[in-house]
Order: sequence, then structure tokens, then C-alpha cells
Amino acid sequence: MDNTEMRQIQWFPGHMAKTRRLIAANLKLVDAVTEIVDARAPLSSRNPEMDSMTKGKPRIVLLNKSDLADENATGMWINYFKNNGAEALAVDCKSGKGLKNLLPTIKKSVLRELMEKRERSGMVGAAVRLMIVGIPNVGKSSLINRMAGSKRTKVEDRPGVTRTKQWVKLDNNTELLDMPGVLWPKFEDQDAAIRLAFTGAISDDILDIETLAMKLLSYLAENYPQSLRERYKIEFDDNDSGLSLLEKVGKKRGMMISGGEINTERAAITVLDEFRSGKLGRITLELPPKKEHVCQE
Ligand code: G4P
Repeated sequence: MDNTEMRQIQWFPGHMAKTRRLIAANLKLVDAVTEIVDARAPLSSRNPEMDSMTKGKPRIVLLNKSDLADENATGMWINYFKNNGAEALAVDCKSGKGLKNLLPTIKKSVLRELMEKRERSGMVGAAVRLMIVGIPNVGKSSLINRMAGSKRTKVEDRPGVTRTKQWVKLDNNTELLDMPGVLWPKFEDQDAAIRLAFTGAISDDILDIETLAMKLLSYLAENYPQSLRERYKIEFDDNDSGLSLLEKVGKKRGMMISGGEINTERAAITVLDEFRSGKLGRITLELPPKKEHVCQE
């Protein structure tokens, strides 16, 4: 991708340091870490320091929003995380699909050694404590609401908003630590930032909306051409640019401004909205890296 037009994403080093400290201080209170990522962009939606921050703790990666992701790609991602030392599970926290496997997988697989040890020492009923982490908008609140069975008050995930540490009871002997503080996304990797902007996880402001939609259309034309053809009933080939695709969508939808020009801004909003709500089908924005390297940035 050509990222020359990208505006710098602002983040706050002070908040990053505070979250890092909070995670380090609370890690000793938990048995395992549950990391939630977006199944459509599993590496781009990870906090870049997650591996180093949670080193030594058993881990499960939840590929959330799997209802919106390409199933084959999600299977590849599950293998990728498993090959890199974490358990992985595809879930959909909106409908709850896949969540019934979460606690059994944690107890039987992620924490197998601990559970066996407890069994030997007659402590099977002891509480299992989990920490949940994830960058904003990956579905952390949806997961907690689903698992805890009642609506929690949503506190805005924004740097500067004070939140206290909360333990949420999931079943008779499982507690989830919902960490205060905001985990920053991979803002230095501009391709990752663009993928997060496609999903709506970070503000559209990093690029103007038309450029963002053009980049998404180019990606779709290359990787999911059938989805584009079916949704917009347009024809295109390798010679089409992001702009020509956007114009074709706008024209097909009758989005014109006076003088017969195509309203590319309206077309861009439509494309992004329809992608984010799954109307373009199940789409994944990145595949696991070819060379298996442990995800330690
Ligand atoms: P966060 O706490 O990590 O910031 O994320 P949150 O649960 O608030 O979820 C962010 C958005 O993603 C919400 O949509 C939520 O409904 C949606 N979401 C969460 N999990 C899933 C999933 O598995 N599949 C799909 N399709 N969407 C999911 P929203 O539009 O911001 O809110 P709402 O209109 O749903 O209330």
C-alpha cells in the first residue's frame, strides 16, 4: 500500500507506560491471559507488546468477530497461533457463537498442567483467574457481557478515562480480571493501521474516507473479486484503480452530484459501512506470515 497520505496517529506515551505497569503488576494475580483480537486482522489488531508483556503466562487468543471473517483464513490463523505457543479459538461475541468452548478449552488445554496439579493436591474447586486484554473495539465488553450473563455498564475506552480494576465472575470457580487502561494498537505499522481503519477500530481520520475506501476496494478486487461483483453488480479487471472502482460503485448506486459527477464521498461511506457490517460477505484482511516467526515485535 502507498501510505504517503497517512496522517500520524496520535497516542500518549504516558498512558502506554501506565497500562504496561498495570498489566505487569496484575499478571501475578492470574493463571492465564485471554487475548481478544479481530479475526479479520489478527496481527494488526494485537497490541505490539502483548507477547513480551505477558511472557510466561499460559495464553488463549480469541479470534472474535469470526462471523465477519473468511472461514478458511480463520482456520489458518488458529493454526498460526497454536504453532506459536498459544491456544486459539474462533468466537462471535455478538451472537455468542463459539463461547461455550471457552472455559472448557481454558481448563482442559490452556491450564491443563495447573488443573492436574490441583487435582493431585485435592484443590479442584480453587478459583481459576483470567486476565482479559485487547485493543479498543475488538469486542472485550461484548465478551464480558456475554460471559457474565448481564449487561455491565460500558465505560468509554479512551485514554484518560479512569477505570478501576474489576473482577467479573464467569462461573462458580472462574473469575475474569477486566484490566483498566487502554491497550494501544500497532500504530507504527501503517498497513496495520489501515486495516484497523477498514474495520472501524480506529478513527477514519487517519486517511480521508475516499482514500480509505479506494484502498479497501483495491484489496477486495484482488482478494475477494466475487464479493465485489455480487454486491455492486460491477465489472472490473486488473487495470481498474481504487478510484475507478469507487466511481463504478457510485455510478451503479446512482450517487451523483450536479453536473453529472459521481459523488465519490457518498460511495466511500457506503463501501466502508457495508464492509463493516458484513454486507460484502466474510472477508479477512491479512493472512498469517509465510515464515513462521513467533509474534514478538
Ligand atoms: P471493546 O469493548 O473491545 O471496545 O468492544 P465492544 O464490545 O464495545 O465491541 C465493539 C463493536 O464490535 C460493537 O459494535 C460490538 O457490537 C461489535 N462486536 C463485538 N463482537 C462482535 C462479533 O463477534 N461480531 C460482530 N459482528 N460484531 C461484534 P458497535 O456497533 O460499536 O455497537 P452495537 O451497535 O453493536 O451496540
